[in-house]
Amino acid sequence: MSEIGLHVTHSANKSWTVRNVQPVEYDVVLCDDVLDPANQAILPVPAQGRARRLVVVDANVDALFGQAIRAYFDGNDVEHRVLVLEPGEINKTVEASIRVTTAMDDFGVDRRREPVIAIGGGVLLDVVGYACSIYRRATPFVRVPTTLIGLVDAGVGVKTGVNANGHKNRLGTYFAAERTLLDRKFLTTLPRRHVSNGLAEILKIALIKDRELFDLMEATGEHVLEAKMQRGPGSVDPALEIIDRAIHGMLTELQPNLWEKTLERVVDYGHTFSPSLEMVALPALLHGEAVCIDMALTTCLGEQRGLVTEEERRRVLELMTRLELPTWHPLLTTDLLQRALADTVRHRDGQQRLPLPVGIGSACFVNDVSPQELADAAAALEAFELAQESAVRA
Ligand SMILES: NC(=O)c1ccc[n+]([C@@H]2O[C@H](COP(=O)([O-])OP(=O)(O)OC[C@H]3O[C@@H](n4cnc5c(N)ncnc54)[C@H](O)[C@@H]3O)[C@@H](O)[C@H]2O)c1
Repeated sequence: MSEIGLHVTHSANKSWTVRNVQPVEYDVVLCDDVLDPANQAILPVPAQGRARRLVVVDANVDALFGQAIRAYFDGNDVEHRVLVLEPGEINKTVEASIRVTTAMDDFGVDRRREPVIAIGGGVLLDVVGYACSIYRRATPFVRVPTTLIGLVDAGVGVKTGVNANGHKNRLGTYFAAERTLLDRKFLTTLPRRHVSNGLAEILKIALIKDRELFDLMEATGEHVLEAKMQRGPGSVDPALEIIDRAIHGMLTELQPNLWEKTLERVVDYGHTFSPSLEMVALPALLHGEAVCIDMALTTCLGEQRGLVTEEERRRVLELMTRLELPTWHPLLTTDLLQRALADTVRHRDGQQRLPLPVGIGSACFVNDVSPQELADAAAALEAFELAQESAVRA
């Protein structure tokens, strides 16, 4: 078998094996002023005729950038329709995706030449991605993330999904967008808490594979949070380096395993207990916040196992606090932890495959975490939280 193609084997006992390979190629591009009508990144010039686009926008983004979005398409003489979707995790539903497919029908999207444009946070990108993957089995789309989670995580991989049956992302597909355009200027209007939320996913990459990124975040964390990841005065631009390293680290892990056939994925770090926690705490906890609590828990577990020193654990939890991220939650009960682990085991083919930190910047996988260890780690976290609270009060 030398090249991509259809391979049919007609064997003696009359069975056929069909084998094919689907190449995947998409671009993730850092760019400035994506809504400047002179910028053709969203909209390469059409080969013929007047361009048409269905644009799907998060309601909060529409309130802030709706005029600029419409001016962009008007300015480029593009026939367009804007569909506005309600924001937030509770609206990440199959019904929202169906609304997108209905708008695609109403607008009469020509799937060969009219990619849908998705402008919003991780929720909107996942909802539109899911809709595009099922609409006529595949309709191209372009992602323009407007949150930090979108820029460094939801906008760079190939997963789409909606919540269902009380579970996070229970329905979803692997479906690559044609292109993702990353313009960090959108973050200037993002509430501070959502910047912290995105920093949690960046911290994940730092903790499991990029010690230099951790050092950089430790040195500049409060500053980049305050600046909402924008360039400061002068030539130094730590926020750009942080975003750049986070995306590079993420894509380095995702690319060889796009369809997640290998179940031991370091990028699952922080995602073992957090899906269950996030859903029971909804809407109080944001995605990155739940991920951060999971990482804090597994850092304590790592310390209990001698994989992380006390000093390293202290630095990690302190950085989380400085990034204004939670490290504990009252719903982090032994019962929830065990149910979450059981759910994860089911999805990791019967084994825990739990990524644990090794020092700062590297990870290993374990399959033998016991309920007692989990309870001890949660108790250690709670003690850290109480100590923090009394330090603040003093
Ligand atoms: N597909 C993936 O690989 C992947 C990866 C990571 C996360 N996700 C998903 O992403 C979601 C979280 O994404 P999120 O944190 O972006 O949440 P989100 O999409 O809900 O956006 C957060 C909030 O910010 C608002 N908002 C968006 N852009 C704004 C802007 N520029 N200015 C002001 N407000 C703005 C939104 O309206 C919303 O209220 C979760 O559902 C998670 O499962 C998916």
